[in-house]
Amino acid sequence: MPSSLRSKKILFGVCGSIAAFKAAGWVSALTKEGAEVTVVMTAAATRFVTPLTFAALSGRPVHSDMWEEGMAHIALPTATDAVLIAPTTAQAIARLAHGMADDLLSASVLACTVPVLVCPAMNSKMLAHPATQKNLATLRGFGYAVAEPECGRLACGEEGAGRLAEWDSVREMLLGLLTAQDMTGQQVLITAGPTREPLDPARFLSNRSSGKMGYALARTAKRRGAAVTLISGPVALEPPPGVTLVRVETALEMAEAVSKCAQTASIVVKAAAVADFRAAAFSAQKIKKTAVEPLLALAANPDILATLGRSRRADQLLIGFAAESGNHEAEGRRKLLAKKADLIVVNDILGSSTGFDVDTNQVTLITLDSTETLDLLSKEETADRIWDKAAALLRARQVKFNQQEAS
Ligand code: PMT
Repeated sequence: MPSSLRSKKILFGVCGSIAAFKAAGWVSALTKEGAEVTVVMTAAATRFVTPLTFAALSGRPVHSDMWEEGMAHIALPTATDAVLIAPTTAQAIARLAHGMADDLLSASVLACTVPVLVCPAMNSKMLAHPATQKNLATLRGFGYAVAEPECGRLACGEEGAGRLAEWDSVREMLLGLLTAQDMTGQQVLITAGPTREPLDPARFLSNRSSGKMGYALARTAKRRGAAVTLISGPVALEPPPGVTLVRVETALEMAEAVSKCAQTASIVVKAAAVADFRAAAFSAQKIKKTAVEPLLALAANPDILATLGRSRRADQLLIGFAAESGNHEAEGRRKLLAKKADLIVVNDILGSSTGFDVDTNQVTLITLDSTETLDLLSKEETADRIWDKAAALLRARQVKFNQQEAS
């Protein structure tokens, strides 16, 4: 069940605020992702950014006049998958909360039955006013999603809450609204990235993991409604919005964090590239190149996945990865059995578009009774296919449990 904005029809409402210039960037980003964006502007919005800008960015006519096109307020929302209004002014929030239909945008929203996402942007005093707060509560009561405005410097020069939310979190909310919430109720624990094993204050042992695969798993699980905890080694990625992030550095720190968080998890996925060894002794002083033999004494790190396999709850689903450079299927199956996992995701670390530090992957999903090789996909699409497989395994487990109960 891939979650993507490709081919999604978005009715994009723009209201009169200086933040309307940011909406231009959002329309451009949506269009580049393959969404079909139809922009509806309020009269005030056209004072800030011209309709021509939005028409050029979306590649479609922009609508703003209630009277020029017959039944546009009925036709527009009918051919739409979701409505996104950004920026949403205090005036627009009040209009929507009171079911007013005196301009094309508010009339279209009133006539629509698809998910609505409003993105407030205004002066902090206007936002804090009980009228605006009451109106926002009314919109939430209608089932509309609200992208919480952020704190910072506002266009009026004041500091406070009221800045338009960031695109990354709004995009995630929009995707969430367009994605079946089939992981609601799941507590998912994911590990991602490399571990770093220090040798001295300057040096460490590590590997080439960027965290992209694990972060894609976290982002897509959250989008599908799961509560997600992400235990991450040192990476240069922004954490996905709405995910609980635990940062660790070494394999021992990761092992400790996993053992704490795994108790409550219904699904655990070990996508991290954990260093198998650490330095046998850490040197508090930088090691001089003349002071030691050029040999490094190592100690084995705990195998976190294998430890989980031995101690996990019967109702927990355990998913491991296998980073392989040869004998992929045989090695994946060996790790499945040795680590007592339900699913091993094998990926090739020699390919130029698979494994470490690229945006794509091609994986083989290995369970006790199946082997399935997926196409080369983006890491997000790969993650979605892993969640589909996890859902199938949980369903099969439930059927087996029901049969045992009945017999
Ligand atoms: O982060 P990216 O740049 O996107 O790259 C993604 C990836 C290649 C790192 C990822 O897709 C991947 O393959 N992760 C697992 C890497 C790995 O450590 O593979 P392994 O075959 O050595 O280990 C098998 C499993 O045991 C893994 O689930 C690993 O997390 C786990 N393990 C390994 C060693 C250890 N001490 N403890 C563990 O839990």
